[in-house]
Amino acid sequence: MSLLLVGSTNAAVGFAAGMETLRRGGSALDAIVATIELVEANPDDHSVGFSGLPNLLGEVELDASIMDGRALAAGAVGALQGYQDAIALARRVMDDTPHALIAGTGSARLAAESGLPPVDLLTPEAERVWRSRLDEQAGRDDPYHHHVRNVVRALADDPEHAEALHGTVNVIARDRNGDIACGVSTSGWAWKYPGRMGDSPIIGAGNYADNRFGAAACTGRGEMAQRLCTAHSVVAFMRCGMTLDAALTQAALDLHRLADPYWSEVNIVAIDAAGRYDAVSTVAGKTFVVQTEDMTAHQERERRFVPAPA
Ligand code: GLY
Repeated sequence: MSLLLVGSTNAAVGFAAGMETLRRGGSALDAIVATIELVEANPDDHSVGFSGLPNLLGEVELDASIMDGRALAAGAVGALQGYQDAIALARRVMDDTPHALIAGTGSARLAAESGLPPVDLLTPEAERVWRSRLDEQAGRDDPYHHHVRNVVRALADDPEHAEALHGTVNVIARDRNGDIACGVSTSGWAWKYPGRMGDSPIIGAGNYADNRFGAAACTGRGEMAQRLCTAHSVVAFMRCGMTLDAALTQAALDLHRLADPYWSEVNIVAIDAAGRYDAVSTVAGKTFVVQTEDMTAHQERERRFVPAPA
């Protein structure tokens, strides 16, 4: 079977390592972790891992999930503090515990028990960005949830900070055996309410893989993908006979239908069981990255824009 890596544009920093893992005969799961752990370590990416932007209290909270398309095994962590290796920990949840999702202090406890190194995730640059918006809220004694609402409203039309609300990394891999796996990692929405988890750690919302039909993963406003179980929907649509193209288009049209005062972009990348890939967005001008076995490096491509129906 031919090898494949496809994912969000910010995954590019890990693609060489991920493809090398596949070329050496590593599994799709190995390639997912090899790719995403480099994104989690990237200090220039403020939406994932180390240097991720923090929640309303200034705490960096990470979410991640991984899914094995062979037997639909999955693992996830949510609201993880103090450890960078969220995708590796999600794999540990899948491989070494009877659970599929461990969140909060439990996830940090598992990280410590697993021997992962503790890391201060909040960098001076991320703290500066966090403060730049929070200061506008200073002096108010509203409950926290009012602050979250105000910050999100203020950021909605602010291109400089848009990535802080939407950024996440995802990768789908296909290995020599034809097995597929999917991984997602994020620091979630900046200024989010403490404990908030989006679609990334929710199997079926931001991540789904099934060798028989394909895989899908989302970035963007996680609450929307949660409400529609978007990643699972794409795979289920293909199971019901839709082509990859039609399944992604339908999922994007469903997202457009959602009533949401914080409506925002959602981007989906997917593959089918034959290893064909495609990516869509509910907004124009978004890209993704892909590397097939015959490519010497990843290529950045434009996502198909699916507009709202007239
Ligand atoms: N899609 C990432 C998030 O909403 O946290």
